[in-house]
Amino acid sequence: MTLKKSASLALMALAVSFFIGCSSKEDRDKYDQWYGSGSKAREEAALVKLQNDRKIAAEEADKAAAEKAAAPAATPAAGGDSAAAPAADAPAAAPKRKPVPADVSALLNKHACFACHQAYDKVIGPAYAEVAKKKYTADQIVELVHNPKPEHWPGYPPMAPLPHVPKADIVVIANWINSL
Ligand code: HEC
Repeated sequence: MTLKKSASLALMALAVSFFIGCSSKEDRDKYDQWYGSGSKAREEAALVKLQNDRKIAAEEADKAAAEKAAAPAATPAAGGDSAAAPAADAPAAAPKRKPVPADVSALLNKHACFACHQAYDKVIGPAYAEVAKKKYTADQIVELVHNPKPEHWPGYPPMAPLPHVPKADIVVIANWINSL
């Protein structure tokens, strides 16, 4: 009886020591290298690199677009002016261009705002990113869509009043404008 008990105890001790022996640091490192935290860190590093590469590519594309846009304006200008032109364009290209959220985009399409406004580019009306700089409240934007004040935007044609656009829709658009 006691012999059997001590024998099974010894067996258990052997199993435990075997287990401890197997989970040595080298084994864990080897495991990590393929499946564990080591591989996760490598995956993360690869992801960060990918994102950085994409960011750089996007920034280069933006810069190329800005230079393209500046080029025709700069060519006829005098030497001094052409140096100033790209510098003046640089801040315009700098802000991050966030995609328009689907719900806002649906409203801008439904009410045809997109026909005259883009988030970051002047079309017929000012870019919404420019409107955002005026720091209107949502209520003020509702009022301005229903009763535009063209004197706010010299050099632009007047926007037609759009009294049929529901206030709730404009509030959604206004909050998005102010997030730009
Ligand atoms: C036919 C072209 C056109 C359409 C369609 C249009 N806009 Fe405009 N919008 C303009 C122009 C041009 C201006 C600048 C002159 C002005 O304010 O009258 C402007 C200005 C604005 C301003 C700035 C107002 C201010 O006083 O600073 C806001 C906000 C605005 N539009 C929102 C909208 C929204 C929202 C819609 C869709 C419901 C819309 N616009 C549809 C042409 C348009």
